Amino acid sequence: MRIRNNPKALDIIKEHDEKVIFRPEKYKGNWKKYFIKEDGYNPNTPIHVELGMGRGKFISTKGLLYKDINFIGIDLRHEIILSALEKILEKDTHNVLLLPYNILDIEDAFEASEIDTFYINFCDPWPKVRHSKRRLTHKLFLEKYRTLLKNNGRIEFKTDSRELFDFSINEFKESGFEILDITYDLHGGDYPENITTEYEEKFIKKGIKINRLEAVKK
Ligand SMILES: C[S@@+](CC[C@H](N)C(=O)[O-])C[C@H]1O[C@@H](n2cnc3c(N)ncnc32)[C@H](O)[C@@H]1O
Repeated sequence: MRIRNNPKALDIIKEHDEKVIFRPEKYKGNWKKYFIKEDGYNPNTPIHVELGMGRGKFISTKGLLYKDINFIGIDLRHEIILSALEKILEKDTHNVLLLPYNILDIEDAFEASEIDTFYINFCDPWPKVRHSKRRLTHKLFLEKYRTLLKNNGRIEFKTDSRELFDFSINEFKESGFEILDITYDLHGGDYPENITTEYEEKFIKKGIKINRLEAVKK
């Protein structure tokens, strides 16, 4: 993702500490209480987390459409978080939080069984075998997500890379997930509820087929 270097991004996102959480460790195990302010604590409100959310089109749209779900978007770079922040402020969503955080440390930010759904959309494919451990669907990552998911919690995964997709299917199966729904051509099928991401829009324009699956914690 080519993003302009904006030296002010950090200052700007710091001004919105009600939406951008810099020390997520403080909320580990208590995210639901953090979200619900006006309506009182609702222990049944699900938490959905997007890993490597990018500029936030997907998560801000989800937040707008699904008010009874709490969403958390994670990305590393402040410029990207700023772009996502602008979208959630513009859409005036109250159920979306952003974490400038490294997914490698995700177990420090969430408690076991705290998450209902993870989304992984168009993560970096890291095509070289020697870099495979960096793929967000490598077993080492899937084990972390699995711990944080509730029983029957799920991961929804989309990618343009068939190689990454095939690799990931194996990793999911070997990490205690059941694959429920799978397509090799998302936009050639019937998925009216699909919400596109920034990367997905680019791939669609180029006529590249999108792979998608849902994996459930067994
Ligand atoms: C290829 S982009 C895809 C962005 C978005 N999901 C989309 O589909 O438009 C991958 C994103 O993952 C983020 N990312 C990669 N590794 C990460 C990590 N370890 N922790 C947090 N974010 C990460 C990058 O900063 C980048 O924004």
